[in-house]
Amino acid sequence: MDKLASHYLAHIAELNRRVTDIVTRGNLSGLVIHSGQPHRQFLDDIDYPFKVNPHFKAWLPILDNPHCWLLVNGRDKPQLIFYRPVDFWHKVADVPDAFWSEHVEIKLLTKADKVAELLPRDISKWAYIGEHLDVAEVLGFKTRNPDAVMSYLHYHRATKTQYELECMRRSNEIAVQGHVAAKNAFYNGGSEFGIQQEYLKASCQGENEVPYGNIIALNQNASILHYTKLEHASPHPRKSFLIDAGANFFGYASDITRTYAFEKNIFSDLIEAMNKAQLELVDMMRPGLKYVDLHIETHKKIAQIMLDFNMASGDVEGLVEQGITAVFFPHGLGHMLGLQVHDMGGYLHDERGTHIAAPDAHPFLRCTRTLAVNQVLTIEPGIYIIDSLLDGLKQDKRQAQINWNTIDELRPFGGIRIEDNVIVHGDRNENMTRDCGLA
Ligand code: GLY
Ligand code: MN
Ligand code: MN
Repeated sequence: MDKLASHYLAHIAELNRRVTDIVTRGNLSGLVIHSGQPHRQFLDDIDYPFKVNPHFKAWLPILDNPHCWLLVNGRDKPQLIFYRPVDFWHKVADVPDAFWSEHVEIKLLTKADKVAELLPRDISKWAYIGEHLDVAEVLGFKTRNPDAVMSYLHYHRATKTQYELECMRRSNEIAVQGHVAAKNAFYNGGSEFGIQQEYLKASCQGENEVPYGNIIALNQNASILHYTKLEHASPHPRKSFLIDAGANFFGYASDITRTYAFEKNIFSDLIEAMNKAQLELVDMMRPGLKYVDLHIETHKKIAQIMLDFNMASGDVEGLVEQGITAVFFPHGLGHMLGLQVHDMGGYLHDERGTHIAAPDAHPFLRCTRTLAVNQVLTIEPGIYIIDSLLDGLKQDKRQAQINWNTIDELRPFGGIRIEDNVIVHGDRNENMTRDCGLA
């Protein structure tokens, strides 16, 4: 905790510097950042799990308290309006007493609808940053999530502070504990549901704490990119296991995938080849490299693997250009990571919000930025047997280049993805996931 506390001051100083910059340009008095409000389930008296506004948790690791507000102008100590109702039904948050508390001025709010009494009297030049535009309107905010502010914040948020990098190392450590337990549970015969329980237990995180719904897929389910069903029955025979699961530390996400074969066979060899390619891609990361180029490089490596494993015939360039690799690797190489799993700002090319979309041939790529120091990205190549995409391939002459016998042999294993979380430094890359000992 000492390390985090010592980095926190510099983190707040950097966030204040950004706010000074943007409020000066926009002629604003400051930003009022809303933690959020609960969302109620239809016809019920129960709320969905609360998800805090990422702009709020960027300042403070308060993740579970709705109706809080943060006032920042870049100059003064940030003011935290902290919600503490009188409520005998629910747990009321304790008055903050953490390493960060002395760096904010705290005012307590006992009734959510009385917040106006604690906001600046004239809020006409304060911008509301949050999800609840109707609330902001009632409170009299004229400026709500202004584009110039959002683009600026989203663009700069890609550059992590030392505090953020430390949080992300910790969220990798936590997730890796879960991954080790999940791997053991797979080899011990666990069902998808059972493996999920082992993961959550070992990482000490609840289902609503982890940053996204874990993907725990056995056998052919591994071909479903965002499979979150969790079957209770254990399949026979047992062939493969894909787990895409992260953790949350102070609001910062990790996002890690591993794939395992139950026995040594063509699929285990394919995993080994993909692992080698993934590590080579991580090695290629450096400041100045366009992420799109690394994505194209991934397709070439996948083409080579497809040739080596007799999945297809032809040459590397042809397999990429004809979109054959895209049938087996239909998603992007990865994305920016941080306060959100798919962190905002992946398409922004400057702080004014210039947007560069993914190339037409790679529509699901979530990042088109040029790599720079202190960015954090995932590197997650994959190869899958997805019948709905293969059906398209079968419609044209490209089908002649596919060795369908190998595809049939691989189909029951579903697919492979290997995903690490990497910090780009000036002179090296830091693979936080592998550094935690996950092979
Ligand atoms: N876990 C979602 C992703 O890897 O992007
Ligand atoms: Mn993932
Ligand atoms: Mn990912």
